[in-house]
Amino acid sequence: MYQLIDGKKISAEIKDEVKEKVRLMKEEGKSVALAVIQVGNDPASTVYVGNKKKACAYCGIGSPNYELPEETTEEELLALIEKLNLDDSVNGILVQLPLPKHINEDKVIQSISPKKDVDGFHEKSVGALCIGSKGFVSCTPQGVIELLKRSGISIQGKHCVVVGRSNIVGKPMAMLLLRENGTVTVCHSKTENLREITKLADILVVAIGKPKFIDDTYVKEGAVVIDVGIHRDENNKLCGDVDFEKVAPHTSAITPVPGGVGPMTIAMLMSNCAKAVED
Ligand code: GUN
Repeated sequence: MYQLIDGKKISAEIKDEVKEKVRLMKEEGKSVALAVIQVGNDPASTVYVGNKKKACAYCGIGSPNYELPEETTEEELLALIEKLNLDDSVNGILVQLPLPKHINEDKVIQSISPKKDVDGFHEKSVGALCIGSKGFVSCTPQGVIELLKRSGISIQGKHCVVVGRSNIVGKPMAMLLLRENGTVTVCHSKTENLREITKLADILVVAIGKPKFIDDTYVKEGAVVIDVGIHRDENNKLCGDVDFEKVAPHTSAITPVPGGVGPMTIAMLMSNCAKAVED
């Protein structure tokens, strides 16, 4: 029987730990605030931003909100970020992505002070992760590491195969697994013989953005499978990049969708906000 990795429970534990940390900081007279910026009203972004604000409220973190109209210019957005960079009452800055097409997303990300880059997207944060120095780490891959650790799954010496090479998930995921002394292989859309490589994985992390792409033919018996994907299937039911029904019986541990990696992203964002005050 496989272990179902409970992201709901683990993310709740982390949020409770952050809440306590924030309470203690407040006793010392330090407050925590995350500025949340949304440009336009993409419905998915509105849901994500709402969930982030709810988590902030739960943890005792302030979340000054900036809801900007779709027509906001790049200059206006950069000016707001500059103001928040200089505002000592703001510890973290989150610009919800995607941004409208007329705004250069990379320019905006790089304009956030690395000291307030709680998303871990700034090139300085990414560089720090690569060389093992201090900096914010992208929340979703950091959440995957926490899921593994808190489920008693050791990474050291294991063959970890990451499928996906995005800047937000795949690449930082590979770096974090390496930092935990895993032996890491990164696969992507151009990888030849993908199945032969994923079948070698002791720990398989899937972030490819294709519903139920990974079935049992891609997975070694007894592997640990982490599913970063989230989609709606043909019956409008939530599913991941992994075909859970087919794969789960062959694993030693697996994350469900929903309730696996998903809730960890916000928990790690809260954790990064608390860290932003400590540093
Ligand atoms: N859009 C989708 N996921 C994310 C995220 O983790 N951070 C930000 N800023 N935008 C997102």
